[in-house]
Amino acid sequence: MAAASPRSPPSTPLTSQQPPSPPSQLPLRTMPGSYGWPVVGPLSDRLDYFWFQGPDKFFRTRAEKYKSTVFRTNIPPTFPFFGDVNPNIVAVLDVKSFSHLFDMDLVDKRDVLIGDFRPSLEFYGGVRVGVYLDTTEPKHAKIKSFAMEILKRSSKVWLQELRSNLNTFWGTIESEVTKNGAASYIFPLQRCIFSFLCASLAGADVSVSPDIAENGWKTFNTWLALQVIPTTKVGIVPQPLEEIFLHTWPYPSLLVAGNYKKLCNFIDENAVDCLRLGQEEFGLTRDETIQNLLFVLGFNAYGGFSVFLPYLIGKISGDNSGLQERIRSEVRKVCGSGSDLNFKTVNEMELVKSVVYETLRFNPPVPLQFARARDDFQISSHDAVFEVKKGELLCGYQPLVMRDANVFDEPEEFKPDRFVGETGSELLNYLYWSNGPQTGTPSASNKQCAAKDMVTLTASLLIADLFLRYDSVTGDSGSIKAVVKAK
Ligand code: HEM
Repeated sequence: MAAASPRSPPSTPLTSQQPPSPPSQLPLRTMPGSYGWPVVGPLSDRLDYFWFQGPDKFFRTRAEKYKSTVFRTNIPPTFPFFGDVNPNIVAVLDVKSFSHLFDMDLVDKRDVLIGDFRPSLEFYGGVRVGVYLDTTEPKHAKIKSFAMEILKRSSKVWLQELRSNLNTFWGTIESEVTKNGAASYIFPLQRCIFSFLCASLAGADVSVSPDIAENGWKTFNTWLALQVIPTTKVGIVPQPLEEIFLHTWPYPSLLVAGNYKKLCNFIDENAVDCLRLGQEEFGLTRDETIQNLLFVLGFNAYGGFSVFLPYLIGKISGDNSGLQERIRSEVRKVCGSGSDLNFKTVNEMELVKSVVYETLRFNPPVPLQFARARDDFQISSHDAVFEVKKGELLCGYQPLVMRDANVFDEPEEFKPDRFVGETGSELLNYLYWSNGPQTGTPSASNKQCAAKDMVTLTASLLIADLFLRYDSVTGDSGSIKAVVKAK
């Protein structure tokens, strides 16, 4: 990473409402990096990204080589025989340059959710769903407002649905641990997340359809994998097989179409209030409402929680530094005196919330964010200013951005208390997992995650629920080995 000045946050807080400060005091530097020869350059970068280096080393080594956190390079996918995907990007790897991605006057978010490559619209019944729309497209405001409204309405049942599904989840884990001495928890957790989200977000109870309850979450796994595999280092197939078979062509939606249709039918028949809302209050067609609801449910919410929650549970259950005791005592102190676990009481749990924020900083669930320059403009890192040309694709790699030593003290350390207190809460200005600062406000005119607050609240509730249930839990990011019930 580029040389760091003293570890204090940039003087002007960067929020989604406040564009980055004018870059005028910093030296103008020619942007380093290159795209290399046609075909050869992108292919060599692709092999580094997926095979020889992996994403982390890929970005780190180039930042070191160019002595800059802003540079030009290529990023996969490249499909030599299928489709027309441009791998050229401008990498932005520090807090200051990354914050330009939130300035909707500077950047366009059309069709760039996972880069220049957009999976076929057939994955969404032919509908271009809200997350692919730029804020200048009128439909974005309708769909984003619809998503925020269903979240608001769901808050009435959110806590109750979360806790009752967690109850089933922990019941499964306990009986597995008793029977086999360990429980692999990813799939039971995904089943729990799926039925919790269907009930709370869509108002659709999965128990009315045994097929959906049993297989709906598996369909989402396949549907998600087919879309993102060409852009993701998978690591379960040995190289060069992964390169040849997983990264050389986009996958067709046909492979999941039958089961996806079943999910559409389930939503069509059971999400009655949501569908009425989308059509009557937000002017969407029935099909647009179903597809957008399924996308928010399956990609944003189910996909996001499926990455984030196992990591969070693994971090806590694998800790032996005394963190569990400290969390347990905070949770029981707040909830003990007759005040139950709810949105208000969980908000009083400073350590629990800080652990959630630190987990999101340490391992942002959505590692890459993209945005295209609307016009030529100047982008600033902490130490220089660079010219960006109209149409260039900016690519922020959050795992490095969130380890920016100019902002975060000992950035490579997981510090559970990092966000506690006044200084800690200042740092929320620079916590970017949601495609905007944690102090920002998602709205129809920006592209910040609609559930920015609900996600952190849900994760905090999961931790608090865990420590009301158990004195301790032992495990890692894939399995639980022991639980000690609360005395
Ligand atoms: C851990 C869980 C979640 C994570 C990590 C996450 C992350 C994100 C990120 C990074 C984006 C921005 C994508 C981009 O444009 O580059 C986003 C957008 C979005 N998220 Fe979330 N999200 C999560 C859960 C949810 C939930 C529960 C909802 C439910 C409503 C939701 C709704 C949305 C919507 C509607 C957008 C699109 C915003 C827009 O187009 O303006 N997300 N999310």
